[in-house]
Amino acid sequence: MTDFTQFPSSFTWGVATSAFQIEGGASADGKGPSIWDTFSHTPGKVIDGSNGDIACDHYHRYPEDVSIMSGLGVDAYRFSMAWARVQPQGKGAWNEAGFAFYDRLLTELESKGIAAHVTLYHWDLPQGLQDEGGWLNRDTAYHFAEYAAEVARRFGNRLKTIATHNEPWCTANLGYGNAQFAPGVADLKQSIQVSHHLVLSHGLAMSAMRKVGSSAQLGIVLNQWTADPATDSAADIAAAEFEYSRSVEWFMDPIFKGKYPELALKVHGDNAPEVQDGDLAIAHQKIDFLGVNYYFRAFCSTETPPRQPECKLGKTDMGWEIFPDGLTELLLKLHAAYELPPIYITENGMANPDTIVNGEIPDEARIDFVQRHLKALNDARLQGVNIQGYFLWSLLDNFEWNSGYAKRFGIVHVDYATQKRTLKHSALWYKDYLVQQRPQRTAHAA
Ligand code: FCB
Repeated sequence: MTDFTQFPSSFTWGVATSAFQIEGGASADGKGPSIWDTFSHTPGKVIDGSNGDIACDHYHRYPEDVSIMSGLGVDAYRFSMAWARVQPQGKGAWNEAGFAFYDRLLTELESKGIAAHVTLYHWDLPQGLQDEGGWLNRDTAYHFAEYAAEVARRFGNRLKTIATHNEPWCTANLGYGNAQFAPGVADLKQSIQVSHHLVLSHGLAMSAMRKVGSSAQLGIVLNQWTADPATDSAADIAAAEFEYSRSVEWFMDPIFKGKYPELALKVHGDNAPEVQDGDLAIAHQKIDFLGVNYYFRAFCSTETPPRQPECKLGKTDMGWEIFPDGLTELLLKLHAAYELPPIYITENGMANPDTIVNGEIPDEARIDFVQRHLKALNDARLQGVNIQGYFLWSLLDNFEWNSGYAKRFGIVHVDYATQKRTLKHSALWYKDYLVQQRPQRTAHAA
């Protein structure tokens, strides 16, 4: 696919990562353990038996990584802060050395003119809070708001955006629903209660950060998909409607409408969350931007075994269907249903079984994937959806949660034995593409 679409010159082009997946420095300079430290050190939880102790060693190599970004010519970098690095127990004392790391990182980004987009919570809850019940304990939402306010106080004016959560759907459904992610609980009722505490914590953090006041735009990042019935049977159609309601509307409705969606609430029945008076009013407050992470659609089949999609464009190394049309459809659907703030696509990309061939990494499949998704998002943009930017997941190959280092999402290859970074073809393509998008600017020197 070689279509070239010109985006507005104000469009933000970025790359994304998250703390646990790249930083390493698991106990450096007073950092406390997080639930992902605990989980990944528990035998059997991560497919390749790996952990995040060193990861991409970004904690020490951040100047090189920022320099790579600068060489690519990106406008913006989306990363997350490790809560346990700046507040080892998740409550109580702050760790100045932890804040100093993010201060150094921000200084480095500023020196290269790269805007910082920060996520406060990308799944690495301080273990100290997990020991008190984690997200199942309502108090965690209040501790989160204190942490959010402290970050806004210290760094707010240096950050372009602050997202409260990354993909609360995953925290609830994979962390508490099917035990695939930390803390490894499989209990539907608990997962739904956790999702409510996450929604509440988002609202509490928004209020706390607004009170501090800063120039950062405040919002949240949600992973979303369209849900298609596998056949036109009534059962598959109902399954698809429920899937969209329990996954997309479940997080969008409280934030944008101050209520949970009726369909999901009804199907959840006795598993519906305990919601205290005023919780939904806290959740329902203006956000300055919405981050959308898009990887695939949901394909809903009630047959056993479930019917699989045709996958006309193939699958990624995660086994995820490549379905760019779903991105257009999703954005149009959201646009029709909600009064949306500006949207950033905060993650999109693919895992590919990349290998080094004569010193190069020819990941043409990834280039094709990104081009198709950019076209799909531009289709939505041309139909009126206000999309301000795109962040490719990911800058670096990294620790892909329970898949460990076996899945490579980076546009930059990481040799974990030597920590050598090598630009893949997709990185070289992205760099050229950004030059084409902004002919008035030249890529920064690496
Ligand atoms: C998203 C996560 C991100 C990464 C990608 C592949 O769900 O936010 O950390 O794992 O998937």
